[in-house]
Amino acid sequence: MLTRALTDVVHLRPLHTGHVDAFRAHLDRDRQRLQTWIPEIAEVVTAEDARAWLEDRAGRGDDDTAMFGLWTADECVGAAAYYVWEPAVRTFEVGAWLEERFEGGGLAFAATCALVEHAFTACGMHRAEFLIDPANARAAATLGRIGARHEGHLRQSVWIGGAPRDQQLWALLAPEWRGRERAPAGAGTGP
Ligand SMILES: CC(C)(COP(=O)(O)OP(=O)(O)OC[C@H]1O[C@@H](n2cnc3c(N)ncnc32)[C@H](O)[C@@H]1OP(=O)(O)O)[C@@H](O)C(=O)NCCC(=O)NCCS
Repeated sequence: MLTRALTDVVHLRPLHTGHVDAFRAHLDRDRQRLQTWIPEIAEVVTAEDARAWLEDRAGRGDDDTAMFGLWTADECVGAAAYYVWEPAVRTFEVGAWLEERFEGGGLAFAATCALVEHAFTACGMHRAEFLIDPANARAAATLGRIGARHEGHLRQSVWIGGAPRDQQLWALLAPEWRGRERAPAGAGTGP
C-alpha cells in the first residue's frame, strides 16, 4: 500500500469511496480554479457523483488503488492518481492537484514522485506519461523538476464542454528516473 509523509503535516494516503464527503469538500473549496485545469471535476458535484468518480478509477492502479489523497489531519487538500495503468506495455499516466493554499511547497512534486517511484520500482513499469493543458505553466514546471520531457503537442485531443482542446504530452522513462541526480522530497520516506 502506497503511503508517504510528504511533510510533517501532509500525508499521501489512498483515496477511495469511503472518503466521498472529504473529497467533495476538498473540490468545493477550490472548484473554479481546479476545473480550469481538470475539467472532469465539473462532473463531480453530488455525493453520488463523487462516489461514482472514485469507483470508476478504483481499478486503474496496482493493488486496486489508483487514487491518493493529500491529507492533513482531517482534510483532503489535494490528490494524485494513476489515470491510466497498462502493465502489458508497462506504461502509466499520473496526474496531481492541490488546493491553491498548498501551492508552492513542493507537495505536488513529492506526491507525483511517490507515484512514479512506486510504479517504476515496486511494479516494474517503464514509462510514465503526463497530459496537461498547454497553458498550465505550474504543472509544466513540476514535470520539468521531476525530469519528465515534453514530447509533443496533441492537437484537439480531448473534447471538453462542447469544444476540442489541445494537450501537451510529457513522459519519463524508468532509466531516466533511476539516473536522476536529486532525490525528490518526500519520495524517500517509506510507509
Ligand atoms: C499543478 C500544481 C499541482 C502544481 O503545484 P505546485 O505547488 O506549484 O508544484 P510543486 O509541488 O512542484 O511545487 C513547486 C513550488 O514549491 C517550491 N518548493 C518548496 N519546497 C520544494 C521541494 N522540496 N521540492 C520541490 N519544490 C519545492 C518550488 O520552489 C516551487 O515554488 P514556486 O512555484 O513558487 O517557484 C498546482 O498548481 C495545481 O494543483 N494546479 C491546479 C490543478 C492542475 O493543474 N493539476 C495538474 C494537471 S493534472
